[in-house]
This record gives sequence, C-alpha cells and structure tokens, in this order.
Amino acid sequence: MKLQNKSDEIKEKAKKHLSPVLTRVTELVVDKAKGARFWTADGEEYIDFVSGVAVNAVGHANDAMVQAIKKQAESFIHFGLNYGYYESAANLAEKLAEITPGNLDTVFFSNSGGEAIDGALKLARAATGRPGIIAFEGSFHGRTLGATAITASSSKYRKNYEPILGEVYHSPYPYPSQLKCVNEEEIVPYCLHQLQKIFELRIDPSRVAAIVIEPVIGEGGYYPAPAEFLQELRKMTEKHGILLIFDEVQTGFGRTGKMFAAEHSGVTPDIMVLAKALSGGMPLGAIVASRELHEKWPVGGHGSTFGGNPISCAAALANIAVIEKEKLVERSWELGANIVARLKDSLKGLPGIREIRGIGMMIGIEFHEDFASHAVPIIKQKCLEQKLLIMNCGVQGQTIRLMLPLNINEEDLNQGLSILEEVIKETL
Ligand SMILES: Cc1ncc(COP(=O)(O)O)c(C=O)c1O
Repeated sequence: MKLQNKSDEIKEKAKKHLSPVLTRVTELVVDKAKGARFWTADGEEYIDFVSGVAVNAVGHANDAMVQAIKKQAESFIHFGLNYGYYESAANLAEKLAEITPGNLDTVFFSNSGGEAIDGALKLARAATGRPGIIAFEGSFHGRTLGATAITASSSKYRKNYEPILGEVYHSPYPYPSQLKCVNEEEIVPYCLHQLQKIFELRIDPSRVAAIVIEPVIGEGGYYPAPAEFLQELRKMTEKHGILLIFDEVQTGFGRTGKMFAAEHSGVTPDIMVLAKALSGGMPLGAIVASRELHEKWPVGGHGSTFGGNPISCAAALANIAVIEKEKLVERSWELGANIVARLKDSLKGLPGIREIRGIGMMIGIEFHEDFASHAVPIIKQKCLEQKLLIMNCGVQGQTIRLMLPLNINEEDLNQGLSILEEVIKETL
C-alpha cells in the first residue's frame, strides 16, 4: 500500500515499532512547536493547553532555552556527575537551594519525576532506618516501581506488577468530591483521623520512614490540599520523626502562583521532589533536602548515569531565569485567577459542572461523575477537531485541566479559551 504523505509514513513506522503499552491520546504527528502552538507534519496548526503535561512552563522551544541548550551541547553533552563536577549542575543545585523553601539546600539529580520519587523513598528509608511509607488515595507519583507502589489513582497502574513494594499504606486525600460521605467542613479532621487509624491499626509511627503527598493533587483531579491539613501533617511527622515528602513534580516552578506549592501553606517538607517544569522539557528530576539529611544517605547508595545531564541542567537554569525575569510566578497567580473568573462567568448555570477552580495556572473544570464519563471525552474530541489540545484528569476522569504555558500570549489564550467555552456549551 502506498502511503499518502510524510505524516502517514511516520505514523505507520511508529505504530509498527513503538510499544503499544503507551496510552495513545491523539493520532497527531507533531512536526514543530513554539510557545503555546504546535504544527503537525500535515501543516495543521493547533493551540496547546497541555504543555507536555505541565512541562513547558515557558512555552515550546523558548528562545533562551534553545540558546542555552546549543551552547552547552557545543561544550560537552555528557560526562557523568560522579566522574567530575561541571558548571551547569553546580549552578543549578545552587539555584534550587536558593529558591526552594527553608533549609532545603542539597540536590540529587535524576532523569524524571518517577525516578526522583524512587530516590526520595530510598533516601527516606536509608536515613531513618524505617520501612513504612504512607501516601494518599488518588495520588500519582510515576511509573517506576517505587512510584507505582505509592500511586493510588488507578488500580491499572499496579495491575500485573504486584507485589511491588512492602509496607506502603494509603490514606484518604482531603478532596471533597472523592469523599462523598464526609461533610466538606469535616474533611480535614476526617483525613487526619484516618492517618491516625493507620498508626493504630496497621503500622506503628516509629516504623514509618515518610509520608508522601502532592500539595495539590494533580493526576487525581486538580484539587489543593487545605493548608491546615499540610500544617497538621508537618506537626504529626515532626512528632514521630517521620520525613515529610512533597511531590512538587507537577506543582513546581510557578504553576500554582508561587514558585512551589509548599509556600501556600508555609510548610517546609523534609524532601521536595521536582521534575517536569524544572527543565522545561529536557529530562531532569531533583530530590532536594537539607545537607544534614542527604549526609545520612550512605555514599554509593544511589546514583545515575544521566542524572544531572549538563544540557538538562543548562536548560533548567535558562528556564528558571525566564520564569524570574518575566515574573511568571506573579503572572501565574493573576492570570490564573482571571481565567477562572472568566470560565465561571461564561460557563455559569451549565448542567454537569461541579466546580471551576484554580490555584495560579493549575486550573480545573470538574464535572459531576455521571457527566464525566460521557461528556468529557466528547469535549476533548471536539476541541481537538477545532485544533485545541486539552487533557483531563481525576479518578473518574472528572476534571478538565488547563496547563497553559505561564507566558502564554493574549491571542493564544483567548482563542483557546473561546474554543473550549463553545465546545463545553454545545456539549452539555
Ligand atoms: C505529581 C507527579 N509526580 C510524579 C510524576 C512522574 O513524573 P515522570 O513522568 O517524569 O516520571 C508525575 C507525572 O505526571 C506527577 O504528576
């Protein structure tokens, strides 16, 4: 059979040789991307409200990042961080020490969020000498085996891999629509009580190494944990000598209107895990903790061939410099609030919508459960037909999440939002 064009040829090859294990969200063949737009190999132009799943905080192919990547590539591409020091990794570690809260001043670099989560679990176990890990229902932490073990946003992520990691316990996340039998005002005491029950019935707190939480649940539905809950977690973990780990893989680098979501509650975790928007698309993850804690990790107990790759670190430095120079954290807070206000107004009174909410530019339109399963897939498909890429999340797929670049221009923003609004109106 003769293939019609370049796009068909690429697709054919990919379908034949790439593993079918990946969930395929679209059949698009991407050729080029810039800012909040991308173009297919057929020359079709799209607006991108996904940003590589909250990765491209400063837009696709940001000029400053491209320059930094080129410059580093011309010097050297790879060396191995355990074979020598180099400037981009040293500068990035210093920068992360400066911008992360409290005493978090020491960094281990890995290649992805999941890998960094696994490293953080290893650090917690090694430093405390305890086996137990507590995480939260609805959370997503990645696909490596440790991250899979603490993920609880769908049983499909664990199916076929059990038993994964022992001594992992899950407690409810304070997310009202997922805790139907609990009054909204009682969510925080209820969730704290459930944690207490784990200590009483399942594992003594003296055997728990870490509690891991996304300060705003991402994959699980785009809902922020109340500040009070995180503050109580801090007290509880300090009381029992348990390490508190914040997974800021999706929330970090201005997405929530602060550089890190931890700042909304004033809680400094013992370990912060970063990836995604850290390096705006080059593979990089980071485990940030105090020097004192990192020193409890026996030398040689962890490592990585590519972790802290010089190009990824140079890209991350350029990315953070753009976020700071263009005041994108402040913009995220203000623009996010404006977008939520606009959507609340334009979608007012429509059946099926449970809540429109946002914290900075981590914006969710949550649908009632019975609408989620049929309306959300239709909305996604219709948006795609109108050249807008969007994504949903949540255990029931109930939330359409907007992950715009923090520096999106007015034209792309308005055009994309207008398509989304019209599609939602005609679908509900
Ligand atoms: C909160 C959170 N943690 C961890 C991960 C895993 O990151 P990666 O896909 O880079 O392994 C993700 C990915 O979506 C995430 O959203």
